[in-house]
Amino acid sequence: MHCLYSLFFWIALGLVCFRIYLKLMTGWCRSQVCLVGKTALVTGANTGIGYETALDFAKRGATVILACRDESKARKARDNIIEETNNKNVSYGLVDFLDLACVRKFADEFNSTHTRLDILVNNAAAVRLRGVTTDGYLAAVQVNYLGPFLLTMLLLNLIVKTPSARIVNVSSSAPNYSNPLDMDLMFDGPDRTKAYYRSKFGNILFTIELASRLANTTVTVYSLHPGVVDTDIFRRLPPSWKFVMDYIVRWFMKTSLEGAQTTIYCALQKGIESYSGEHFEDCHFVSRYAPVAKSVDQGTHKLLWDKSVKLLGLDVTI
Ligand SMILES: NC(=O)c1ccc[n+]([C@@H]2O[C@H](COP(=O)([O-])OP(=O)(O)OC[C@H]3O[C@@H](n4cnc5c(N)ncnc54)[C@H](OP(=O)(O)O)[C@@H]3O)[C@@H](O)[C@H]2O)c1
Repeated sequence: MHCLYSLFFWIALGLVCFRIYLKLMTGWCRSQVCLVGKTALVTGANTGIGYETALDFAKRGATVILACRDESKARKARDNIIEETNNKNVSYGLVDFLDLACVRKFADEFNSTHTRLDILVNNAAAVRLRGVTTDGYLAAVQVNYLGPFLLTMLLLNLIVKTPSARIVNVSSSAPNYSNPLDMDLMFDGPDRTKAYYRSKFGNILFTIELASRLANTTVTVYSLHPGVVDTDIFRRLPPSWKFVMDYIVRWFMKTSLEGAQTTIYCALQKGIESYSGEHFEDCHFVSRYAPVAKSVDQGTHKLLWDKSVKLLGLDVTI
């Protein structure tokens, strides 16, 4: 019995130490940059990492647009941010990445009502999306990769016109644990979790290619992994997972505020411009994950760009 108590004690102590270690390793954006006069657009800003990102920008005085798919959630998020920051320049627009026509409509309206876009944060995403959209693409790939690609391309003229604008693509560390991206599987490969992995891989390759195409402009582009963050993204997990998440894993996760730090860092930290096209974790640059580096060696970032442009029928001049 004594042995058992002793075992529990050491396990509990180990877990507490691990939690303290994770908290100490969490990166915080310490930048004091003021965003008065700047415009920021954050997708999926009604909750989680996107909400905390938008809240931070609003605190810094930016004009912030929350791009959300659900009007009541968007309105609630906007009202909360205005109440907390007293920044009245916070509004929302409706966009659902499950519908590419809706993305085009949102971009048209944005282009016609704004004269600048200093920060675009492609944050919206979902896990465990199933099936094919009415546009004919795997839902996970469309919502997490192709839709944000389209939105960015449609806003690009406005972004390029804005001095020193930034594009931040919230990806994941998932591509570190997969094979190099197989272009034949990107849009038509297996559904389920694998489509989420491919979509997040796509975010990183898109960042690399877009940064290289924008190299002769003042626009910079970054991708990032926010960490494992306690947000609504886990609500789609099956009940068995939910138990493990609620009672064990959650204790080791970042809060949404902690999870937003690397996004905020990439959006406004001065001095990182030479890292355009690179990937960040915990508010610092990290080397390319091996499968990403291999994909770039194979030219997959260019193939993915060409295929995406073609599928979307875009006339891209950069
Ligand atoms: N949490 C993590 O551990 C983790 C780890 C790695 C990467 N990430 C990445 O971090 C980003 C933010 O995730 P999160 O954890 O903050 O998740 P979250 O709390 O679930 O927020 C996701 C946001 O995306 C929106 N969204 C989902 N489907 C959409 C669609 N079809 N059209 C428009 N918006 C849509 C959601 O809107 P609704 O509220 O209406 O659903 C929500 O606002 C994502 O890109 C995710 O891949 C998260």
